[in-house]
Amino acid sequence: MDKKVTHMKTRALVVVVAAFAVLGSGPAVAADGAQLFKSRCGICHWDPAQAGEKPRQGPSLKKLIGRTAGTEKSFTRFSPAMKKAGFVWTADKLDAYLDTPRKLVPGTSMAFVGLKKPDERKAVVNYLLKAAR
Ligand code: HEC
Repeated sequence: MDKKVTHMKTRALVVVVAAFAVLGSGPAVAADGAQLFKSRCGICHWDPAQAGEKPRQGPSLKKLIGRTAGTEKSFTRFSPAMKKAGFVWTADKLDAYLDTPRKLVPGTSMAFVGLKKPDERKAVVNYLLKAAR
């Protein structure tokens, strides 16, 4: 093997190890998700990890995972679009909705531009997978 290839392989290994170091730190990622939820969603949604099933500007996200979109009973202002969306909230659906809400649910009344950074979306989705059961 020539020197250059060996060098590249070593560098690739360093990158992989570094990525594991970041992804492996579970609590830090979870903390980010909670923090992002607070700052980006918290003006309209109660934190599902805390008490309060009552809606705010947006519906309660308690027990969101596995629930059919637009069916949270104490929220009376769902858009017609969300009411007839018909899908069940999963990690994939959340990821798509949080990327561009109007793309997944055209006509949604959630006035939110979207979380454009995939790692931020992932952190929030992972947070909800735990907190919104
Ligand atoms: C400006 C207020 C606002 C912000 C900010 C906001 N939401 Fe919403 N959210 C709403 C409203 C209003 C609805 C109802 C949408 C509809 O009926 O079309 C909604 C609906 C939802 C739903 C569907 C709930 C269900 O029961 O079907 C999810 C999931 C959701 N929001 C998650 C989030 C997350 C996560 C964030 C932060 C990244 C966020 N929202 C930020 C107002 C907001």
